[in-house]
Amino acid sequence: MDYFERRVRRILERARVKSGDRLLVAISGGKDSAALVEALSVLRGSIGYKLAAIHIDLGIGEYSRKSREAALKEASRHGIPLIIVDLREVLGVGIPELAKLTKRPPCSVCGLVKRYVLNAAAVEWGASYLVMGHNADDMAAYALKAFMSQDLESLSKLGPVTETVPGLAVGRLRPLYMLSEKETFIYSMLRKASFTMDECPHVNRRQVEIVLKRAVGFIESRMPGFKVQLLGNLARRYTDYPKPKEPLSRCPSCGLISSGGECSFCKLTRRALGEPMGPRMRAYIRQKLHELGLEVAGEN
Ligand code: FES
Ligand code: ZN
Repeated sequence: MDYFERRVRRILERARVKSGDRLLVAISGGKDSAALVEALSVLRGSIGYKLAAIHIDLGIGEYSRKSREAALKEASRHGIPLIIVDLREVLGVGIPELAKLTKRPPCSVCGLVKRYVLNAAAVEWGASYLVMGHNADDMAAYALKAFMSQDLESLSKLGPVTETVPGLAVGRLRPLYMLSEKETFIYSMLRKASFTMDECPHVNRRQVEIVLKRAVGFIESRMPGFKVQLLGNLARRYTDYPKPKEPLSRCPSCGLISSGGECSFCKLTRRALGEPMGPRMRAYIRQKLHELGLEVAGEN
C-alpha cells in the first residue's frame, strides 16, 4: 500500500498540488477510480487539498445502476461530496439512445459526452485539476495507438499532468500513470474499496485500444518492465510533441473549449435532440454544486 501511495504522491508533487487546491476526481464505479479515491483520501491529510468526486450515470441499464451504487458507496465511505450527473435527467436520453439518434457507435458518443461533462464540472467548481483513474496499461495502449497513427498532438496530451486553459478547460492529472492494472486491483482489494467488476455491454473487443492493451500485457510478460520504461520515457518527453495547431476557441453556445465554432457536445446534442445541450448541462452541474454545498467558480 505504501508503494502504491508513494507513486500517487509523486505525481501530485510533480503537478505541485498544494494545500487548498481543489481536486475533482472522476469515479466510474470500477476498480481504477476506486483505488484512486482510496489513495487520494489517504494523502489528503498530509497535503491538505479539497476533494470532490463526479460520477456520470450513462443510462446503460443494469451496468449503470451497479456503477452508480459503487460510486456512491466509495465516495460516502470517505465523506467526499459526489456530483452525480444523470444523463437521462439532463438530456432525456442515455448513451444507447444518443448513439442511435446520431448513428454513431455508443463508445464514441460516450467518450465525447464524458469528456464534456467532466470538464464542464471541473470548470464550474473552479477545480485545480480533473483527476482521472487511467492506469499504466491504459496509458501504454493509448500511447501506442497515437504513435501508430503518428497522432503527435494526442501524444502531447498523454502525460501524467496536462495544462489548464483558464475558463475553458481544466488540466488533467493521472496519478495511476505508473501503476499497472494488476497493482491497482490489488490495492483496491487491500483497501476494501467499493467497485463493480461488471463491464459495459457496449464494449467492443476488436476496438483498437482494447487489442493494444492485450498486446501490452503480452509484451510485458515477455519483457518485464516494458510499460514502466515506455511511460517513464513518455512522461519525460510528451511536452516536446507539437501542441494542436487550431487556435483554441470558445463554443458560442455553451462557452467552453472548442476547436473552432460550436463544441462537439453542443453539435452532437443539436443533431440528436434539436438543441445544443451545453448550457443546460452547465446549469444542471451548478445546481448540483449548490445542493452539495460546493462553491461555484465565478459566483461569490
Ligand atoms: Fe461508455 Fe460503454 S459506451 S462505458
Ligand atoms: Zn458547447
